[in-house]
Formats: sequence, structure tokens, C-alpha cells
Amino acid sequence: MKTVSLINMKGGVGKTTVAVNLADFLANRESQRVLLVDVDPQFNATQCLLQGDQYVDYIEKGGYTIVDIFDNSTRITNSIVDGTARHEPVKFSEIKPVKSSRGFDFIPGSLQLFKLEMSAGSGRENRLSHYLKTLENEYDYVIIDSPPTPSVWMVSALIASDYYLIPVKPDPISMTGIDLLQGIIRERSENYGFRCKCCGIILTIVDTRSTLRKDAETFFSTNSRWKGQLYAKSILKRANIAKGQLNNQFIRDIDDSTLKADFSLIVKEFIRRTE
Ligand SMILES: Nc1ncnc2c1ncn2[C@@H]1O[C@H](COP(=O)(O)OP(=O)(O)OP(=O)(O)O)[C@@H](O)[C@H]1O
Ligand SMILES: [Mg+2]
Repeated sequence: MKTVSLINMKGGVGKTTVAVNLADFLANRESQRVLLVDVDPQFNATQCLLQGDQYVDYIEKGGYTIVDIFDNSTRITNSIVDGTARHEPVKFSEIKPVKSSRGFDFIPGSLQLFKLEMSAGSGRENRLSHYLKTLENEYDYVIIDSPPTPSVWMVSALIASDYYLIPVKPDPISMTGIDLLQGIIRERSENYGFRCKCCGIILTIVDTRSTLRKDAETFFSTNSRWKGQLYAKSILKRANIAKGQLNNQFIRDIDDSTLKADFSLIVKEFIRRTE
């Protein structure tokens, strides 16, 4: 099982878009067993998989979310013996990933993470890693979508991961942020003792009419720290990607052969880089 986190402290660079479509291509084009984990309190990846009413229904029925992995405090459960309510800590073995309609499983995110963060306790950062170890033989890839903040959730994702993948929008501000990102990851890895490796940088939301992609390619090929990390293909800016997301539409569903062919090559390069 290979675990990979989508990381960038810059918001809106395509982390979630890459995470959900990577999961979708790996499962459907590459026949891999995939688990997607949403550790972002904004839970956008979950919204790409469930309509609002489906999510509300899931929560109302007591469905587990990422909060149950991080929070080892008690949860009210009904005793199957006498029907009375009991307060019991959730066991990892009870938290079953949800089957999505896309052929891969996922752990839904939750806005409740914001509440937990305020009272983050020691050791909580390791719980996702421990939980995923219990699923070691069930998946080929675990893809983690993380928030754009150097939070306990981002650290948890890195602790649980073998690799991190960086989506970058090719504009000057985003590119300066990536050195900062590298510094934060190094500092956190020393503090927490994790060894998560970079498995590359993907240019996203690329506007072919501007020279920004060329500038970004030059930056990444000449900068000694990032040499060799840039994927050969990038993800073009396409309004249909943004439009379709809340209708649970993925790149595979969009009638755009260039977009799909490019993404397919990105996924093949991803597989090689995580071998
Ligand atoms: N290739 C693309 N072309 C056009 N729009 C895109 C593309 N990729 C992503 N988007 C849109 O850009 C916005 C940001 O993308 P996304 O949510 O994937 O970024 P993010 O890095 O996960 O953001 P956040 O930091 O808030 O989690 C979304 O509205 C998404 O639909
Ligand atoms: Mg996101």
C-alpha cells in the first residue's frame, strides 16, 4: 500500500481536483484498489463524491468521518443488547471506509475538524497513520487530500504518507510559496520524525495563452532543489472541471480528449514515481 498526500500551503491550486481525479483514474483506468481520505475541514473532496443531501443523510445516520479517526473521545452508540444509549470510544475496527459510486472507497471529511483543531491533543497527529496501518492489505493506493494550512491535519497527512505530491499553479506568487512549503515540511519532519518523500510537482490550472507555464518550466528545471520533480504533462485550465465538481463530475466524464489523455499520462508518471 502506498500512501500519498496532496500538499501545498497555497489555497486553490488544485489539490482536491488532483486528489479526486487521481483516485478515479487509478481505480478505473489502472485497476488499482484505492482509498481517498479527506483531512481538509473544508471537505471539498467529499463534496465531489456526495451531494449535499446524501452527506447530511450519511451524517444523520451516524456515519463515520475523519473526525472519528482523530478523536478518540466517546461517541454515543446504541447498545445492540438492550437499545440503551452508551458513551463509548470508537475503535478503529469500526470505522469502515465508504464505497463511492466511482469504484474507490473514501473516508468522508467533516467541518467538525475545525472544532477538534482548537483542542488538538498530544499524539493525535499519529492517529491517521495508525488507522491506515489497519488497512494495509486492503488498498494499493491511499490518496490524502489536505488543507492549505500548515495545521495538525497537514502534519497528520504527512506522518501517514510515503510520498507527497505538490500541485502548483504556474504563477510567480505560487512558485515562491513552494520553497516555503519545502522548509515547513523539512522542519515538521525533523520535529515529528516522519520520512515522507516528494513524488513530484504537477502544474495545474494552466492557461495555454500565457507564458506562465514556460516560466514555471524554466524555474523548475533550473532550480537545483526542484530539478527532475516536474511532471511532463500539466493540467490545462478548463471551465468544465470547475463547473462539474459539485455535480460529482470528474475529468473522466468530461468530453475533452486532450484533458483526459494528459491526465492519464500524469497518472502513469505518478505510478512510476511511487514505485
Ligand atoms: N484545471 C482546472 N481548470 C479550471 N478550474 C480548475 C482546475 N482545477 C481546479 N479548478 C478549480 O479551481 C478551484 C480550486 O481547485 P481545488 O479546490 O482543487 O484547489 P485546492 O488546492 O484543493 O483548494 P484549497 O486550498 O481551498 O483546498 C476549484 O473551484 C476548482 O474547481
Ligand atoms: Mg482542497
